[in-house]
Amino acid sequence: MDEFPVSPIPAANVASVPQRSPLRYPGGKTWLIPHIRAWLHGRDPKPRLLIEPFAGGAVVSLTAVMENLVDRCLLAELDPDVAAFWHAALRRGPELCELVASFEPTRQAVEALAHTQPANPLERGFRALVLNRTRRGGILAPGASLSRAGESGKGLASRWYPQTLIARLQQISAHAHRVDFRETDGMHLLERTAATPGAFVFADPPYTAGGKRAGQRLYAHHQIDHPRLFHLLTHTPADFLLTYDHAPEIAALIRRHRFHAVRVMMKNTHHATIGELVISRAPVSSTGTAAPARKAASAAVLV
Ligand SMILES: C[S@@+](CC[C@H](N)C(=O)[O-])C[C@H]1O[C@@H](n2cnc3c(N)ncnc32)[C@H](O)[C@@H]1O
Repeated sequence: MDEFPVSPIPAANVASVPQRSPLRYPGGKTWLIPHIRAWLHGRDPKPRLLIEPFAGGAVVSLTAVMENLVDRCLLAELDPDVAAFWHAALRRGPELCELVASFEPTRQAVEALAHTQPANPLERGFRALVLNRTRRGGILAPGASLSRAGESGKGLASRWYPQTLIARLQQISAHAHRVDFRETDGMHLLERTAATPGAFVFADPPYTAGGKRAGQRLYAHHQIDHPRLFHLLTHTPADFLLTYDHAPEIAALIRRHRFHAVRVMMKNTHHATIGELVISRAPVSSTGTAAPARKAASAAVLV
């Protein structure tokens, strides 16, 4: 028997929840949305601030703001390309939409763009979006290859849906006054802000504990001091959710800090059922949310 029970809140089938992020993010947390709703919905007083120190595609924060589960969110991201994307999306939305609308994703155009070094955040952010949507698995880390035949054999354009991307960017622009973004170390941001009254923390760091290399292959920035992160969360007054893969080092930290953890079951890209850990100070109640987990939902789809 595993020491961590299976979560009563199942993983969402990613096709069944609204897609909010324009980025296809390796390790994206769309499947966790039912859990996030159960965690934040109906709280009195309403959560004022959601801090997401490892933003990536920021699915959780965007959903929490757009579904009015929180008043505001504060995102941090260390990767300068991902950061440029968020600067562009939040501050230069209409111009970014124009760039998306006029781009033809031919192999030549994508390769030419990949070799540019844009100086301003708008162009750098646009470049990050194009590479994210056209590289295999959405991976932006150095060495990532272009999607060869494209997914479903449709070429590089197989994940370039301009109208869908523009609609998501417009939604982000409409909510941008409630989203703060910092290009900074999420650990430092947590240290400085987690004591803010009414703050909640959602942390989804790269999974590199116990010698796992996935986090290193997927992200340019993947050095995480796991014990320090647990220590920080123990000493913050903020309520938090933390996600990790099921590594022995993480299980030991959960025990040491007397945190609660459940496994959310899903299928990986190889159709094997795996459980990701959702860690919190106290159990998240499933009241009023989905039925108990029966079948593992597939989280392999990067949308
Ligand atoms: C697992 S991904 C987050 C995915 C996100 N939850 C989503 O749904 O799209 C982790 C992200 O943390 C970023 N990162 C790594 N170390 C960081 C640090 N010290 N501070 C801020 N961001 C960091 C990586 O660049 C990556 O984008």
